[in-house]
Amino acid sequence: MGKIWRISGPVVIGEDMRGAKVYEIVEIGSEGLVGEVIGLEEDKAIIQAHEDTLELKVGETIRGTGAILTAELGPGVVGSIYDGLQKSLTVLMEKGSFLTRGAKAFSLPRDKKWSFTPTAKVGDRVSEGDIIGTVPETHLVEHRVMVPMGMKGVIKEIYGGEYTVEEPVARLEDNGEVKGLTMMQKWPVRKPRPYKQRFAPSRLLVTGMRILDYMFPLALGGKAAIPGGFGTGKTVALQQLARWAQTQLNIYVGCGERGNEMADVLYSFRRLKEPTSGQLLQEKEIFIANTSNMPVVAREASIFVGITLAEYFRDMGYDVMLVADSTSRWAEAMREIGGRLEEIPGEEGFPAYLGSRLSSFYERAGLVECLGRPQRQGSVTLAGAVSPPGADFSEPVTQNTLRIVDAFYALDTALANKRHFPAINWLTSYSLYVDGVRDWWSEVSPEWDDTRATALKLLQQEAELEEIVRLVGPEALPEGDKLVLLVTRMIREDFLMQSAYHDVDTYCLPAKSQLMLKTIIRFYELAQKMLDSGVTVADIRSSPIVPRISRMKDIPNDAAPERIKELWSEMETGLVTQRGGAL
Ligand SMILES: Nc1ncnc2c1ncn2[C@@H]1O[C@H](COP(=O)(O)OP(=O)(O)OP(=O)(O)O)[C@@H](O)[C@H]1O
Ligand SMILES: [Mg+2]
Repeated sequence: MGKIWRISGPVVIGEDMRGAKVYEIVEIGSEGLVGEVIGLEEDKAIIQAHEDTLELKVGETIRGTGAILTAELGPGVVGSIYDGLQKSLTVLMEKGSFLTRGAKAFSLPRDKKWSFTPTAKVGDRVSEGDIIGTVPETHLVEHRVMVPMGMKGVIKEIYGGEYTVEEPVARLEDNGEVKGLTMMQKWPVRKPRPYKQRFAPSRLLVTGMRILDYMFPLALGGKAAIPGGFGTGKTVALQQLARWAQTQLNIYVGCGERGNEMADVLYSFRRLKEPTSGQLLQEKEIFIANTSNMPVVAREASIFVGITLAEYFRDMGYDVMLVADSTSRWAEAMREIGGRLEEIPGEEGFPAYLGSRLSSFYERAGLVECLGRPQRQGSVTLAGAVSPPGADFSEPVTQNTLRIVDAFYALDTALANKRHFPAINWLTSYSLYVDGVRDWWSEVSPEWDDTRATALKLLQQEAELEEIVRLVGPEALPEGDKLVLLVTRMIREDFLMQSAYHDVDTYCLPAKSQLMLKTIIRFYELAQKMLDSGVTVADIRSSPIVPRISRMKDIPNDAAPERIKELWSEMETGLVTQRGGAL
């Protein structure tokens, strides 16, 4: 179609490019590197190359493909490891062409046969989104084969059996024309997939992280950001979400971060088991790796490929969680492209469209009624890490993200330095899903609201008292305030702190969280009574109940109700004895 006129890092300018369209995929040079047209000026096309441009030369050809960046959707996606362009890294590695430029690999295996069971029958009139059959894709994910968007008709033939993704499993007749329907569909990644209706999120996404589930809940279909300075625990937090989120499918997008972290994730998913089914976690996971050693521009593609896969499984009626580490690296790629184009930069060199591009990602989160029959709901929940340089949250990526998301988990350098993990600051974090999930929580425990409010109020009080302690020292405080400091230390250390590396503590069910916090608050109530009868905080602090409370974390989820009940009765009698002067 045209040829290379100029090369500037990841940006290639082509000439004689009349006829190209914005977002069209082009193949650049003899190696056929993948690029995407991002602007047109007369006969020149501005192309962002999704692969390394080092060896390209001016004058080499550029071929248009007429296609835009699409994702392949169908059985074979789950458990895959993809690069930013949805090329299978496993296939590329087997072929020995891992990370070589222009390497081609299908996203879905073409030769693998899948066992298709029809759920629709001959004579059914079907249209887009209708489920016509299922495939057991992994032990944890049943793939629901849907009529692709834009297709409809009466089923003339539908066959159960073993098929590849390219073989038709049904034939539809529409206006006298008969078309084959395969298990594979394609979708342009920058375009949100349609749905019938969107709802306000109302169910808790159980993450197993106490500070999220209990304090700042994330709802199915919600959108969250995890900003934090260097080493504050962004990656670990996202890995925890991708591991334990009680969704049917989880997608991990490694965007511009270190390759060894991706290797870590892959390794742990081969080893760890999903808590309810006991199956390996990778049976419900998709990995997209555009690590720091891979082309900068494909970071954006990795984000949009990921969200498209998420929406596709949402459309089947599933709850999907997608985490992206880190959206800042994607924003940096935007800045780099913008800089090469000599666009007039916005704040700190980021392009003026930074905010709208970020929101075109986050806005694809949601709880929806899916298109097609049977009637069903699905959701996509998004969590993105943000890496503000110098932990300065006033920088543009954090600020733009803050305006878009509804849950904000601020990681705090001071907490991380004290090794308080997850280092989520309870005073500056928030979730707008608290009201939405109240009914969900009241089914688990009617006391959730009160217990949560009491704990947050005490933590607020602690922050105020700390000011005073700084000025006059702890001894000057009245006993009541000293007790607040004792109890808030318990809330922080025995409840909010949660090790990602502890076999039991890594995943805490909401019912156990409720028992744990309720126990600490009950301890506070009893201790207050003791203060009234003249016992000192120093005595209360040395009660054997205190270390017992701190070990609640280690109690397995299923043993928690019984064991914590025992602790309660000892606490009631134990503390009463003390009150009676038996100390
Ligand atoms: N929940 C946790 N439990 C235990 N340790 C944790 C937890 N979260 C973070 N850490 C500790 O903090 C370290 C740094 O975490 P992590 O790599 O996630 O930070 P990051 O914010 O992603 O850093 P970077 O800015 O380099 O990307 C981990 O290696 C681990 O030791
Ligand atoms: Mg990290």
